Amino acid sequence: MAEQAGDPLFHSHDPIFNRKELLHVGHVPDEDRIVGRDDEIESVAAEVGAITRGDPPNNVMIYGKTGTGKSLISRHVATRAQNAARGNDIDCGVLYVDCSEANTETRTTRQLALSLKDQTGYQESIPVRGVGTMEYYQHIWQILEECFNAIIVILDEIDKLDNSNILMQLSRAREAQKTDAYIGVIGISNKVKYRETLDERIDSSFGHRELFFHPYDASQLREIMRNREDAFQPDVLEGGTIELCAALAAKKHGDARKAIEILKEAGELARRTGSETVSESHIQQAQEVAEINRIEELTSGATVHAKLALYALASRIITGDRETHKTRKIYERYVSICDLVATDPITENGLYRQLKEQAFLGVIESEKTGGGRSQGSYLLHRLVTDPKHIIKAVRRDSSLEDLPTYDRLGDSASATAERDAELSSFS
Ligand SMILES: Nc1ncnc2c1ncn2[C@@H]1O[C@H](COP(=O)(O)OP(=O)(O)O)[C@@H](O)[C@H]1O
Ligand SMILES: [Mg+2]
Repeated sequence: MAEQAGDPLFHSHDPIFNRKELLHVGHVPDEDRIVGRDDEIESVAAEVGAITRGDPPNNVMIYGKTGTGKSLISRHVATRAQNAARGNDIDCGVLYVDCSEANTETRTTRQLALSLKDQTGYQESIPVRGVGTMEYYQHIWQILEECFNAIIVILDEIDKLDNSNILMQLSRAREAQKTDAYIGVIGISNKVKYRETLDERIDSSFGHRELFFHPYDASQLREIMRNREDAFQPDVLEGGTIELCAALAAKKHGDARKAIEILKEAGELARRTGSETVSESHIQQAQEVAEINRIEELTSGATVHAKLALYALASRIITGDRETHKTRKIYERYVSICDLVATDPITENGLYRQLKEQAFLGVIESEKTGGGRSQGSYLLHRLVTDPKHIIKAVRRDSSLEDLPTYDRLGDSASATAERDAELSSFS
């Protein structure tokens, strides 16, 4: 047997995954695996589709929360348009730039120029550093002139670009006689507010249509995952796992990326623990890990005081009996926790600003509650996530890993209550 010939340290057969690549974030599934986006596909096609007939396309902006299929549908439609155009003897290129990485005009134009060169036999060398935006544009126009009738440019996460000049350059290129090729831009943003930041001049020359992608519901998420079941070995996914995963993801954000990530993480977990199947409990655990990762990501740029403020709010929720707490109460707990980690506390007003920042990030929600005229109004803060996830995420900061975990509530409420008493005694 071939297996005996190999090093037994490495299994020749993955007991859990069969085609794991189906669960990778950047994986573009075949058309028949795309679920519930027929209208969106048609709408995008309607805007850029003129290219396939040799006519000028419309630019389009796609808005929607993460994991609603914006990147996928854009790439899918662009590729189909390219093939259709070729069928009509039109040389159509597709360029994709992730502006969260290429977040300046120079980086974006460099990437465009380099991938155009990659796609063609362009002879001139394109320097990767030491030159500016203008030189990259020159190469872009020249390659378009030499090799293409039309091009579709996908600018993903376009709100991460430090300025939107590129939109104007691309949409005015023909008018400014830089190139004869038609250019269709698909801009993608998670933030609907991005529109307001486009200055008027660019907005009017960009002349774009807008599309909004909505979150998936549980049954769509279920089908998206069912279509990738063959990422796993046969019979590895226990009954109910996909349903649970879909239900969790639908409840949270209707985010297909999260759903797929949780499924993959559950498989990894099963493999690490030597389990032959993926169970509902693997899904539950994977979901928690994903949520903690998300919180950690959101708070990674936050100051230690913001983290301690979140931690203070979380610990108050765990050890108390209410979900919402006043700034003052959070501050009191925060001050005692600062003592525990030997950190000088900031002022209450400073902490209030930190909380506002967290509300901005979507980790907490703050609501103004009006007392009567005599009482004045105050803010009540609540966590958008399970407080235990906050505790875990905050403790991942190496300078805060000695903080109490508060995870025993339930098994041993008294231990937590003791700690709580200990903490209160500091204030
Ligand atoms: N309608 C869909 N059918 C199948 N898979 C989908 C669908 N929408 C999203 N996905 C998958 O979910 C993940 C996230 O989608 P993506 O297009 O990156 O979302 P967005 O760009 O809106 O954040 C990708 O792996 C993608 O393949
Ligand atoms: Mg995307």
